Amino acid sequence: ALISMRQMLDHAAEYEYGIPAFNVNNLEQVRAIMLAASDTDSPVILQASAGARKYAGAPFLRHLILAAIEEFPHIPVVMHQDHGTSPSVCQRSIQLGFSSVMMDGSLMEDGKTPSSYDYNVEVTRRTVEMAHACGVSVEGELGCLGSLETGLAGEEDGVGAEGVLTKEQMLTNPEEAADFVNKTQVDALAIACGTSHGAYKFTRPPTDDILAIDRIKAIHQRIPQTHLVMHGSSSVPQEWLAIINEFGGEIPETYGVPVEQIQQGIKNGVRKVNIDTDLRLAATGAIRQFLAQNPSEFDPRKFLQVSTNAMYDICKARYEAFNTVGHASKI
Ligand code: G3H
Ligand code: 13P
Ligand code: ZN
Repeated sequence: ALISMRQMLDHAAEYEYGIPAFNVNNLEQVRAIMLAASDTDSPVILQASAGARKYAGAPFLRHLILAAIEEFPHIPVVMHQDHGTSPSVCQRSIQLGFSSVMMDGSLMEDGKTPSSYDYNVEVTRRTVEMAHACGVSVEGELGCLGSLETGLAGEEDGVGAEGVLTKEQMLTNPEEAADFVNKTQVDALAIACGTSHGAYKFTRPPTDDILAIDRIKAIHQRIPQTHLVMHGSSSVPQEWLAIINEFGGEIPETYGVPVEQIQQGIKNGVRKVNIDTDLRLAATGAIRQFLAQNPSEFDPRKFLQVSTNAMYDICKARYEAFNTVGHASKI
């Protein structure tokens, strides 16, 4: 069934687990996520970015998610809009039937320019007012995602700030977070702690100076009732990088957020964990390997099936690591 983000995250907070929020834009991703959730009795957050809407078109996206709900009626599903850039973008998603929206006011409407605190409060507050009137949840963001190593936001043409960010911008301030939640009444708060979108998060396995789990702890201590969201949470599996590069890919050395660090986050109030890149890497690795090893094969279902299997394995591993397992039937 389709439920609101608030209802799902309240349950996660009560039982102290986290929920991976996977980005979706096609059938194979949706099926991999739902099959893994069904096999492990895990609740599901399916989220669509502006890029996903551009790729698949809003009607196809909406019906993919509705199809997932129809085929897996025993699994609670949140249909979430990722990184909305304005209240009107969020309003359109609400009209389309999303049960949750993210108003990312950490950046201006261009999705690139870091905004002022007052701007962020204003657009987020307006979105909450509108969404709550429709029974829809809202995620806000305070602080800009970016690498504490380089000051860069990561993904070039994806979602993220342009130019170099200061350390202050890349670490959410706990006092400001308390004021922000109080003024906006958001249901969940995305925080910045040194992660960034995409595959190129860290040039070495992250240590405390570049991945600030301590900061999450400090925020959680200040606002223990607020559900925290960790963006840029792909772990960038080294096994998949090796397979991609073995079968013709060219991805330079890079590191993501170790699952153990996410588990620390979950111990400190993180309830929603955004993952996109890991499923992309697994799908690409599986397809490259399959096509290299089966050069005469040309039925797309064959390589799409192996990509679904590879994504399924990641989803199942995350449900298990975040303690999401066993909760779907209890919500
Ligand atoms: O929000 C970040 C996600 O990785 C979305 O990426 O805009 O390429 O769909 P996308
Ligand atoms: P990754 O690029 O680390 O998968 O993060 C995705 C994300 O935060 C979507 O909002
Ligand atoms: Zn994000």
